[in-house]
Amino acid sequence: MSTPTAVLGSRPPALLAPALRPARTVVRWAVRHGLPAIYLQGGARRGDPVGLLLRDRSVREEPYALYEELRARGPVSAGSLGLVTPSHAVASEILRSDRFGVGWDRSAAPWLIRWALAFGDELDATGVAEPPSMLVVDPPDHTRFRRLVSRAFTPRATAAFEPVVQRTADSLLDALELRGGQVDLVQSYAAQLPVLVIAELLGVPTDRRTDFLRWGAAAAATLDPGLPFARYVAAERALRAMHAFLREHFERLRRNPGEDLVSRLVGLSDDEALTERELHATVMLLLGAGFETTVNLLGNGVVLLDAHREQWDALRAAPSGWDGAVEEILRYDSPVQITGRTVKEAGTLGGREIRPGARVTVLLGAANRDPEVFEDPARFDVGRVNARDHLAFSAGIHYCVGAGLARLEGVVGLRALSERFPGLRVTGRPVRRDLQTLRGFEHLPVTLR
Ligand code: HEM
Repeated sequence: MSTPTAVLGSRPPALLAPALRPARTVVRWAVRHGLPAIYLQGGARRGDPVGLLLRDRSVREEPYALYEELRARGPVSAGSLGLVTPSHAVASEILRSDRFGVGWDRSAAPWLIRWALAFGDELDATGVAEPPSMLVVDPPDHTRFRRLVSRAFTPRATAAFEPVVQRTADSLLDALELRGGQVDLVQSYAAQLPVLVIAELLGVPTDRRTDFLRWGAAAAATLDPGLPFARYVAAERALRAMHAFLREHFERLRRNPGEDLVSRLVGLSDDEALTERELHATVMLLLGAGFETTVNLLGNGVVLLDAHREQWDALRAAPSGWDGAVEEILRYDSPVQITGRTVKEAGTLGGREIRPGARVTVLLGAANRDPEVFEDPARFDVGRVNARDHLAFSAGIHYCVGAGLARLEGVVGLRALSERFPGLRVTGRPVRRDLQTLRGFEHLPVTLR
């Protein structure tokens, strides 16, 4: 395992990413973001909650009051992008039922949309929220991809990773101890730990890891519908650079395979082999999901425990409580706030008629504050007995592959931090990331002591 100094050290020249193709970029943006933006903007003007959530930065920063407004309207209501649910019971039903899927039938779309999707289709501009990423494909393809990666994330495989996570956390903390004083904890710790760990798991060379953080930060926005053009272009550039890196990485591992998951994926026998596009989608998802989410768990955790100081002190006195604390952080301020599904079969949902093709927005962050499941849900309590009933990792067939690893990073990362800097305090204004689907901090000024 490399040291943080090596990671943060000299950077190799940028890879030659394929250039943007302007006409295709405009068409891609228009169909994926421009059109949804029009719907969402109109919805926000009419006071529609989903429109407000996705378009109004102040609501996005503090969405919990809006979630309660939605809850008061019932378990399922109509929003600008279809139906929406803040209910834990309905969300669980949707996520676990095969009456819903993640894919949608493109052949039923108007011809102009179909043309735009086909014209704009390009591997190098494809993000993790587009097929064939397993996040957005249904069985049987989903089953095929998932089987190939889940072997690397069994409870046993994850537990074997604990020494790596601990060592990585310790070496990052050593570097922080040398610096002392006030630091940005997201930039210097919460973002670094997950990227170092997932890079190790995927056999990524040390000198590219700082690039991932830069690319990941820009590309994470592609999870959100309705991006402005300039942000989309920045995200697409980052995606192109990531694909170029992956292409080079796969070549290297084909010539010289290691023990890591990606070496296994590039070396699959013909009957299991992934196509080039499937390989890119799978590894890009693992890489992105591996570090763009856990950073939020760590940052949200530090802010919550700083605001509930007695709980931080109690955890320091009884570190076995960290497992429960991580579950409560995931529940209380979920790193992934939103997901969605498409209705596959006609029926009813929360007392409403639903038709095939309809879209349902599932508000995971709201489900995790449902008073039907969590007593006094707006209270942050690391000793909450049923905190683990949250849906922060989703449920059903798309349940997070990396949940065990994320929990391990959360527990080891926060525990090690509290042991090394028991008097740590947030001493500046934390700045939230300007994202909708993911929820966390971009900057977190703390004083180490
Ligand atoms: C706190 C950290 C994390 C959170 C909150 C989180 C959350 C989620 C959620 C909510 C989903 C499912 C979305 C849906 O149902 O539509 C998901 C899927 C996924 N996550 Fe995570 N995740 C985290 C960390 C990780 C890590 C460390 C990895 C590392 C490999 C990872 C890999 C994946 C993959 C591959 C999927 C797709 C699974 C599928 O579609 O079958 N995640 N994650």
